[in-house]
Amino acid sequence: MKLPFFLAKKFVAADTVEKTLPVAADLRSRGLFTTLDLLGEYISDPKLATEAKESYISLVQAIDSSSGKIDKNISIKLSMLGQKIDESFCIDNLHEVLTTAKEFNTFVRLDMEGTDVTESTVSIFEKVHALYPENVGIVLQAYLKRTADDVARMCELNARVRLCKGAYKEPAKLAYQDMPTIRERYLEHMETLITKGRYPGIATHDDILIDATKTFVRSNNISTDKFEFQMLFGIRTDTQQAIVDEGFGMRVYVPFGDMWYPYFSRRLRERKENVWFVLKHLFVK
Ligand code: FDA
Repeated sequence: MKLPFFLAKKFVAADTVEKTLPVAADLRSRGLFTTLDLLGEYISDPKLATEAKESYISLVQAIDSSSGKIDKNISIKLSMLGQKIDESFCIDNLHEVLTTAKEFNTFVRLDMEGTDVTESTVSIFEKVHALYPENVGIVLQAYLKRTADDVARMCELNARVRLCKGAYKEPAKLAYQDMPTIRERYLEHMETLITKGRYPGIATHDDILIDATKTFVRSNNISTDKFEFQMLFGIRTDTQQAIVDEGFGMRVYVPFGDMWYPYFSRRLRERKENVWFVLKHLFVK
């Protein structure tokens, strides 16, 4: 069953690239950076992976045609490029995307998905980072027990990392389950990435983590151009703007496209207020 797009509107910019570009340009005009994400994940049909690769390449070209009105920054999921079908097929697709990204001076962030693909994503990242060090970055999830090692490795490689809590349901063997521990780990990784890493993205809507990051950089005289905050489209928009007005970098993750359901359901699971928001709009319509 295809669900109507208006359900997703709080979290998803639009269903097409044409309608998304003006949204990104508007954010940019208000001092916010953006990263555009064409939604879709975990595909099992090679034809869809090839189409996704072509769509990512067209997106890079479309952003370039905006003549500087839109940040040259996209986020992609390897499971959309065929990671679960055949890793070498996925790597070939990724090379094509990164070759275009390099040509158009665009940055491509590899989103991090479930633990079934963590090791594969890190190892593919290491391979392509060696070839496109200026054009590709990775995401690490603070809830994973392995992340301290990955943070150290990414600092060694001088690779750009987005740090988030982690959005997938994972077993206790692999991931911390309680919020105080996840926050504690997040703050340790934030400090390491800001002091030893390369321009990390501190991706969270959590005031405890945002305030601790501000306190850490201020008390260590770290300038605001050494990192950026990141938030998701449609979540805490006033706070996004307030952080920019305070003099920090803020990048908004702007998802779009018609394969929005898995992303949308993660946002609902994260916060019960999001469910109420969607229900309210269902009845108001
Ligand atoms: P969380 O939802 O845990 O909320 C913690 C606290 O923050 C709340 O108790 C409240 O105090 C405050 N808060 C949150 N939302 C609020 C609101 N709307 N209004 C008021 N207060 C609010 N995950 C992943 O696994 N792989 C990935 O690649 C990415 N990529 C990514 C990019 C970006 C830019 C972001 C911001 C996030 C991701 N994530 C992700 C998702 C991430 O892992 C996580 O699931 C969500 O960000 C939710 O965690 P938070 O820390 O943002 O706050």
